[in-house]
Amino acid sequence: MKEVLVIGAGYVGLITGVSLAEIGNSVTCLDVDSHKIETLKKGKTPIYEPGLDDYLTKNINEGRLNFTTDYKAAVEKSEIIYIAVGTPENEEGAANLEYLFNVVEELKKYINNEKIVVVKSTVPIGTNRKVQDELSQLPYNINVVSNPEFLREGTAFYDAFNGDRIVIGGYDENSISVIEDINKPFGIEIFKTTTESAEMIKYASNAFLATKISFVNEIANICELVGADIQDVSKGMGMDTRIGNKFLNAGIGYGGSCFPKDTKALSYLSKQLNFDPLIIESIIERNNRQKLSLVDKYNNFSEMKDEAIGLLGLSFKPNTDDLREAASLSIIEKLNEMGKEIYAYDPISGGIAQEKLGDKIKVLKSSDELLEKVSVVFIVTEWDEFKNLEFSKNKKYEIYDGRNILETDSIPVNSKYYRIGR
Ligand code: UDX
Repeated sequence: MKEVLVIGAGYVGLITGVSLAEIGNSVTCLDVDSHKIETLKKGKTPIYEPGLDDYLTKNINEGRLNFTTDYKAAVEKSEIIYIAVGTPENEEGAANLEYLFNVVEELKKYINNEKIVVVKSTVPIGTNRKVQDELSQLPYNINVVSNPEFLREGTAFYDAFNGDRIVIGGYDENSISVIEDINKPFGIEIFKTTTESAEMIKYASNAFLATKISFVNEIANICELVGADIQDVSKGMGMDTRIGNKFLNAGIGYGGSCFPKDTKALSYLSKQLNFDPLIIESIIERNNRQKLSLVDKYNNFSEMKDEAIGLLGLSFKPNTDDLREAASLSIIEKLNEMGKEIYAYDPISGGIAQEKLGDKIKVLKSSDELLEKVSVVFIVTEWDEFKNLEFSKNKKYEIYDGRNILETDSIPVNSKYYRIGR
């Protein structure tokens, strides 16, 4: 059992802290947001993530998980310090490292003996080295280890215990093996490498998954022109084990907190080094255009242009309330410019979206209410409950399915149904 401090109680920090407690460590999660820390102390979660509530309560009750805003006390008692603060993109598309280096400054104030500092935050290649250089100014032996996270929102706990690999990069053999040991109870293959390679594995993995999505979306657009069906094309491609059948679902593009930010940061970093990231740039551009492909279809085909439009789904993907870089936001912005009246329903993120977007949309309480209210429907997020929609039998709809989730026989007669790549 180790005495662990996790700095940053956002998405990555919370999942990291809770899962390290679950495998038996004594974990303190620290955040500068005192309101968030008070909420967490009561066992309430500030984010929506299946399983988080239960793991949180269990580990607090069993005495392995604490929350604090007190840097000094938390740093002093820790053996291993995880940094898990956000690295959001700045206006130029680079990763903003302000929060990370604020943490490093705090650590320089309070570190009182030998410690291992683990960087969980996604950081540009070379950042761990800078953190190490800063902390090497202290009169103690401080070793920095890179340990990027690969959790998917919505299935984060499943991934924490069933992921494909844990990557550890570092300079100091002993620290690497301490972090290897702490991770062993997860039962996941551990891959050890250099710090720079560990940092790059995270960016390259996300950029590659984004590439698969943008590639299949591009093929889907060509399928529409030549009369092929992307669903069959993806299936046939995926049967080749060299290609693999995952991440080949065509749709209206990727969103979320990772793919958009990490592809842009990798592109920015390459350009800083005078390298032209041709592939990465096209992935980003294809995705930007793909997010608006339902609007393009609507502009080309709609016979109901005076009517209100209803959006089913707002989160960037199912099982999360996260709206970051969601296709819904690009669609709403565009439809707003076009002067459309927009209704929307999302099983989880409706309230958050209403707050964020104000009078740009009217959020409804159910998909049934939406299907009653509007005739033009955009399916934006593939929530399970949208797979069996109850359309009014006597009404004529125009349905734009951005996630290819409906069966054609569920579409009422006289209605029009448009999909991606089919
Ligand atoms: C991703 C990575 O999967 C994870 O390893 C990393 O640590 C963080 O980024 P996440 O952002 O939670 O996780 O979402 P993910 O499930 O990977 O989906 C990302 C986006 O791609 C979603 O918008 C999803 O709808 C889209 N997607 C995914 C597709 O459009 N098609 C696919 O075939 C797969």
